[in-house]
Amino acid sequence: MTEHPQHAHTDTAGVDIILEHVEKRYPGQKAAAVQDFSLEIPAGKIVIFVGPSGCGKTTTMRMINRLIEPTAGKISIGGKDALSINANELRRTIGYSIQQAGLFPHMTIAQNVATVPKLLGWKRPRISDRVDEMLDLVGLDPAQYRDRYPRQLSGGQQQRAGVARALAADPPVLLMDEPFGAVDPITRGVLQDELMGLQTELGKTIVFVTHDFSEAVKLGDKIAILGNQSSLQQYDTPEAILANPANDTVAKFIGSGASLQQLQLQRVRDVDIEQRPTAHETDSVSEFASRIDSWGIILDARDRPVRWTDRSHLTGAASLRDVGLPFGELVTIQSTLQDALEAILAERNASAVVTTPRGQYHGVVTIETLVGAISAIRAEHQ
Ligand SMILES: Nc1ncnc2c1ncn2[C@@H]1O[C@H](COP(=O)(O)OP(=O)(O)O)[C@@H](O)[C@H]1O
Ligand SMILES: [Mg+2]
Repeated sequence: MTEHPQHAHTDTAGVDIILEHVEKRYPGQKAAAVQDFSLEIPAGKIVIFVGPSGCGKTTTMRMINRLIEPTAGKISIGGKDALSINANELRRTIGYSIQQAGLFPHMTIAQNVATVPKLLGWKRPRISDRVDEMLDLVGLDPAQYRDRYPRQLSGGQQQRAGVARALAADPPVLLMDEPFGAVDPITRGVLQDELMGLQTELGKTIVFVTHDFSEAVKLGDKIAILGNQSSLQQYDTPEAILANPANDTVAKFIGSGASLQQLQLQRVRDVDIEQRPTAHETDSVSEFASRIDSWGIILDARDRPVRWTDRSHLTGAASLRDVGLPFGELVTIQSTLQDALEAILAERNASAVVTTPRGQYHGVVTIETLVGAISAIRAEHQ
């Protein structure tokens, strides 16, 4: 999930998935878990299944790779009838990543990532290269993590390793079942951003299950909102669903924060970035003080923002190295406006400092800019 991959990681673009009148009845249960479910999932897109717990999301998704066999209906993947081919072969063409990563605890990270390539009979050097390439891709240094066991990784790192494993055999389809459900909110945001970056590069068909509507809005090209027994309430782009909920169930699910949800759809790079005075830690204190009207930003030698300062902090200071206050949360130009709002609320300056993806200072986004963006969204949908 790095920003600057060195190789092409994929030869396999996404394919479309078509489900027709699919049904699942578990033995001994009166009602079907999934009843008459039909959906077309376009090639190369991220489609999100979202809905309340127990509505049938996992069951529906698992029928695509036949970890659960449908009781009735048709499923085709890339034009092929998925129900008439060997289920094990089918599964090797579909990456699968679940909450808590689903890594095998007794195997190293490298062995975990190598699972499907091994099943496919790849030669050892090719597997080893691919493992390193995949770990690199998801931002885990192979030299450091290859030989560790899953328990020796943080939750977020395990999740990255899970994605590396799912992608190892370069499948056209990736199924992700609440993959970021078990990590803290900040790590979740980072993993979501990384997944979007990765997808721009790989163009897989991704089916992603979540019960978190704001995650669906952020990640989805299209969202399928499911009710009981996987009944399809609405299937559309996030923008269209937020603007025109199809029925009361959807409206309730979206909740009253619909216009705030729209903040997930816009990025910091889409709004006005303003500038504050900046100085490096080695620069003159008095010269910086003369340029500061309300507050300014101190950068380290690599242009990364380290602290902010107002004029009173600078009075009598000998060096910019030991004045000012550290930043709470920074955002990047790729962060959502939702992230920017949270960062602003956590700072005293009513602004969030924006960096490039590599952490260099880029500017600030102010609360006024965000309020303007929210009003514009409201006006557009009234
Ligand atoms: N193996 C199973 N045997 C019997 N019932 C099941 C099984 N797995 C799930 N169910 C039932 O099917 C319904 C849908 O479950 P699931 O697909 O896991 O929902 P979700 O992923 O949306 O939370 C639930 O009522 C659940 O209790
Ligand atoms: Mg589930």
